[in-house]
Amino acid sequence: MTTKVARVIGTGSALPERLVRNAELVQQLAQRNIETSDEWIATRTGIRERHIAGPGEGTTLLAERAARAALQRAGVAPASVDLIIVATSTPDQVFPSTACQVQARLGGAGGAAFDIQAACSGFVYALSLADALLRCGAHRRALVIGAEVFSRVLDWNDRSTCVLFGDGAGAAVLEADSVPGILASRMHADGARGTILTLAGHLSQGVAAGDPFLRMDGKAVFKFAVDVLESSANEVLASAGITIGQLDWLIPHQANVRILAATAKRLGVPTERVVVTVDRHGNTSAASVPLALDTACTDGRVRSGQHILLQGVGGGFTWGSVLLRY
Ligand code: ACO
Repeated sequence: MTTKVARVIGTGSALPERLVRNAELVQQLAQRNIETSDEWIATRTGIRERHIAGPGEGTTLLAERAARAALQRAGVAPASVDLIIVATSTPDQVFPSTACQVQARLGGAGGAAFDIQAACSGFVYALSLADALLRCGAHRRALVIGAEVFSRVLDWNDRSTCVLFGDGAGAAVLEADSVPGILASRMHADGARGTILTLAGHLSQGVAAGDPFLRMDGKAVFKFAVDVLESSANEVLASAGITIGQLDWLIPHQANVRILAATAKRLGVPTERVVVTVDRHGNTSAASVPLALDTACTDGRVRSGQHILLQGVGGGFTWGSVLLRY
């Protein structure tokens, strides 16, 4: 029997209609007496604009749109998918899961569908999981989605966080094949560092309890993110026997352009081989890696046979990498 591996056969993405440039955001925050500037946001983070979901645009809708685009690109029918994993920290509801709702909207009942929550590492975690489930033969075709509406969990009076995030979704269709595919993947967490990035709110006795907003120690996150992105990249590259020189594209979680640049520098990856979308999308948490992957596939940068390193890092603290041949 030929050993099966998981191969990406299509990607897709979806962004809310409303585009908010820094200048507009600065004006809106000024009305709340919050002082910031396009210059501060652009130089400290690289972000120039982000999409913000309107009242009718939720995580499920964005996930569905990204999924449909990925299925169309792959040229496969929704009903042929037997595994849906959605990575999100901002589901529209606690349950049914976003994945189950997406399955209902696409059609094709009977396969497995569930959400996973690993904050900004969510898509990389979901991809690793799908890879394992396809490799072992439990499933044959998977839809892996990262979808978020972080604009709904931001404290718009906290300038140190509200300028950083955006909304969106990205998806990939994977299938079990005898040709790679995913070459190596690793997931990690350090729960003891959980306090540097939190969203503590929860439901209790019929009310939303606890702090309903994202809180972050930006400097601590920055330092830790660069350290683990470097170690995680080296780990999967070594595991697959691929050198940095053989890597065509580095697609790290899009949190901040300075984190991307620092990671690339430490790894010795030239900046022209790093896919950057944080300038246009902001930090879209679990959606950032699939959005960046789809952007680079759609604009023709990523080509068949190339080596791509996808990297996640975020709340938990969680991190991980997936190395694939496209
Ligand atoms: N506009 C203007 N000034 C601001 C703003 C703002 N939006 N936000 C903070 N400031 C001020 C601060 O109040 C501070 O003022 P002070 O010196 O008078 O106290 C000053 O700017 C500098 O603040 P720092 O926190 O030192 O700024 P820093 O250079 O560290 O940049 C940032 C902050 C962008 C958050 C950075 O630490 C960072 O990118 N960290 C990574 C965090 C991240 O990307 N998180 C995303 C979620 S986690 C993840 O995805 C992995």
